[in-house]
Amino acid sequence: MGCAMTAAVPVDPTTTTAWASLTELKKGLNPDLRGWFADDPQRAQRMSFTAGDLFVDLSKNLVTDDILAALVRLGDQVDLPARRDAMFAGERINVTENRSVLHTALRLPKSAELEVDGQNVVEDVHATLEKVYDFARTVRSGEWKGVTGKRIETIVNIGIGGSDLGPVMVYEALQPYVQEGLSARFVSNIDPTDIAEKTRGLDPETTLFIVASKTFTTLETLTNARLAKAWLLDSLKSAGAIDGSDSQAADAVAKHFVAVSTALDKVAEFGIDTANAFGFWDWVGGRYSVDSAIGTSLAVVLGPENFADFLGGFHAIDEHFRSEPLASNVPALMGLLNVWNVNFLDARTHAVLPYSQYLHRFPAYLQQLTMESNGKGVRWDGTQVTCSTGEVFWGEPGTNGQHAFYQLIHQGTQLVPCDFIAFANPAHPLKDGAADVHELFLANFFAQTAALAFGKTADQVRAEGTDEAIVPARVFTGNRPTTSIMSASLTPSVVGQLIALYEHITFVQGIVWGIDSFDQWGVELGKQLAKAVTPAVGGDEHALEQVDASTQGLIRFYRQHRTA
Ligand code: F6P
Repeated sequence: MGCAMTAAVPVDPTTTTAWASLTELKKGLNPDLRGWFADDPQRAQRMSFTAGDLFVDLSKNLVTDDILAALVRLGDQVDLPARRDAMFAGERINVTENRSVLHTALRLPKSAELEVDGQNVVEDVHATLEKVYDFARTVRSGEWKGVTGKRIETIVNIGIGGSDLGPVMVYEALQPYVQEGLSARFVSNIDPTDIAEKTRGLDPETTLFIVASKTFTTLETLTNARLAKAWLLDSLKSAGAIDGSDSQAADAVAKHFVAVSTALDKVAEFGIDTANAFGFWDWVGGRYSVDSAIGTSLAVVLGPENFADFLGGFHAIDEHFRSEPLASNVPALMGLLNVWNVNFLDARTHAVLPYSQYLHRFPAYLQQLTMESNGKGVRWDGTQVTCSTGEVFWGEPGTNGQHAFYQLIHQGTQLVPCDFIAFANPAHPLKDGAADVHELFLANFFAQTAALAFGKTADQVRAEGTDEAIVPARVFTGNRPTTSIMSASLTPSVVGQLIALYEHITFVQGIVWGIDSFDQWGVELGKQLAKAVTPAVGGDEHALEQVDASTQGLIRFYRQHRTA
């Protein structure tokens, strides 16, 4: 395996017969969720599916059976099954970086085998997992000690993008699983406020930093790692815990810093002993890496068993995606529905609305996963895309969003497809008098998806005795598409399942659009310019003259007003 992709030219989806059918079906479409549900008692059941522990109801989308069937045909006609198999097999489907895309190998069971370039990657994955788990066990048991002999109480993960968003999202999602006496903080931004605030109040003697960076070249992460090192050594010195000698400083760094990277040579250059480093491979994209050693902070605070359950959740959805026919394949159907919404219903954004406070960082996590993957205008053969791609993903947990932006989703002029996510069991079964608060909470989830689908007619508004002048303002058109995802409880496995679900949805959309969902060249120009402009910001007049007039004006404003 590891061979280059066989079909170099993506199928243009707009030339397929399925696309032509969808175009015709759109022309004839008169969305009527009220009528569709009234006339078809089986609709909800027929359009609901199960994947792993996830129950997924697609019935409140603006689709008929014919549209769903045409979407499935579209999947077939753009070779989705073959592309999916190529990904799972380790073909180099990331063509602009000439890499395999094998995040699915990170969660294969130990007994599996998968050869890439002559090497069984499953052995490598499990060898690293064991190393991460051993490390996690020593920290959790207190066997790993800081430089003054104290056990570790706080893990600070330093990383950005995929080396931050996954760990922080999962840490927040699985709070009930965090070992007592351990906690984690996450530093990502090069805004010095971030490290200043995240180290505030920390005891250096009980703090362990994990520097997480796939490339170990990322400016933000390396800057923050250096600042963290300085903070550690300064605070230990001022507490009298170490003297100023190099050997004590080296000992402190060895006991308070570990690293995660694919570039272990660069880890060593930075001054972290590679014995305290956990590797991964270039076939894991940054935004697909929370289930690699990038999740070391999670393995520590949640424990190896919970981390293994988390990986098991991913694998359950991988198996579903790999083997289920497209017509009942949940990630495939959700990805194809997103294509329908973007390319035929003109949706420009997509909201993800978890009815779980613990998932409050899930939309932010998905922003990198989806938008860094599919925010592209060129196909993998270098030609222009032939239709719109990459909708904007966003969201907030319910019910907070209801009191903020749902107004636009209910009555605005833009179509905003939404994914609602909810759990039958609360982590905290609280009562307000006789009322079960989780039931009050879930009632909102059920009500919102119904309100968006079925709306409220003018007659219903009038029947409530509403003054005629404000009837139009109180009408809800309905026909606002939603997908509902439910599971029994928010467990490590279910978090893994949700992540894998969206990874594969993203993949499906990328395949239809013919784009390489695994590169991210669009982040490079800003990085280059930031480097080029740094001397100008620092006072170099010649460098300032090289930049455009607008940027010069902004830098001059900065220079005039910087006082601190
Ligand atoms: O700049 C974008 C990016 O490359 C992301 O894709 C990645 O997740 C992030 O930067 C961090 O990269 P690294 O893990 O190499 O520090």
